Amino acid sequence: PAASLKDTFASTFQMGTALDHTFLENLENPAFDIVETHFQILTATNAMKWEPTQPENGKFDFTQADTLVRYAKEGGFEMVGHTLFWHSQAPDWIFEDENGEEVDRETLLERMRDRARMMAARYGDFVKIWDVVNESIENDGSWRESKFHKIIGDDFTEQGFRIAMEELPADAKLLYNDYGMTNAGRRDAVVRMVKDFQAKGVRIDGIGMQGHWGMDYPSTEDLEASLDAFASTGLPIHITELDVDFLGKDNLAGANIGRKKLVANSQNNLYPSGVLPAEEEERFAERYGEIFEILVRNAEKIDRVTFWGVTDKDSWLNNFPVRGRTNFSLLFNRANEARPALKAVVETA
Ligand code: XIL
Repeated sequence: PAASLKDTFASTFQMGTALDHTFLENLENPAFDIVETHFQILTATNAMKWEPTQPENGKFDFTQADTLVRYAKEGGFEMVGHTLFWHSQAPDWIFEDENGEEVDRETLLERMRDRARMMAARYGDFVKIWDVVNESIENDGSWRESKFHKIIGDDFTEQGFRIAMEELPADAKLLYNDYGMTNAGRRDAVVRMVKDFQAKGVRIDGIGMQGHWGMDYPSTEDLEASLDAFASTGLPIHITELDVDFLGKDNLAGANIGRKKLVANSQNNLYPSGVLPAEEEERFAERYGEIFEILVRNAEKIDRVTFWGVTDKDSWLNNFPVRGRTNFSLLFNRANEARPALKAVVETA
């Protein structure tokens, strides 16, 4: 049996994975063994987002999230709260009044506060790391246009952290989380924002780099430069949603090649059987080895590495940016076996 990730990296960083509540529907799922052997901290893929937890005004629904929290508690895992405030998977009603008109800033801030308060009341004792605001900064460093931004203004992210600071327990770690964090524009804007928050006394405790990466993206130089830049704030880095977008052969995959290319390349469903030839596995393993070499070398800057899924079967990349792809992005294959990439990762420790 392959060496356990959490044991291998016990003195380096925490190892985590993301689970959807549907993962728990099949109690015979052999992937449970992988989760329990290799990981110590879990993130809910979808269950704690605003939409499933508050589908209508005044109606809270914690069934999905509770299922995962119960599993995490029984299994001795820690858990990450993902995510309080995000423009995606936020229900439409939060932006509208009873006549369907757009609400004002104060109303939306009040709704954000209600959400933070409810999540804190239900999970605050157990969940000690929170992705407070997700993806509010664009690639060029500007604030993302979203309904939150339109209604609240440029201080949407700051207000999110102020609310979290007031409503979540004092020992909760508050993270800003985003993708494309190795791109200079976004990276520099995040560093500026963190320093601004620190100067104003707005609490922020960590920086989440999602880590939706590809075979060529980011370059090792850009990755290392970003770890340095984020560490310059004094905050720990969390790699929060790691996967390597890989369809085989053609390397055109991974965030940042532009949506058009990504969609075009997604039509090449090269290995629909879900099995890769050995040389493809090798190439992929080398890429994970290269990434982890850098992470391990910078271990003092990094608190946690979380993968976005357990096996290739449950990766969101099978359906993103178009449905029906056969993606190979994680360390375990569709037969719940360790891929060569697991060994490559373990060898960097
Ligand atoms: C994804 C989930 O994996 C999918 O199941 C869902 O349909 C859409 O969201 N960035 C994030 C995550 O912060 O919440 C996203 O998760 C992937 C991108």
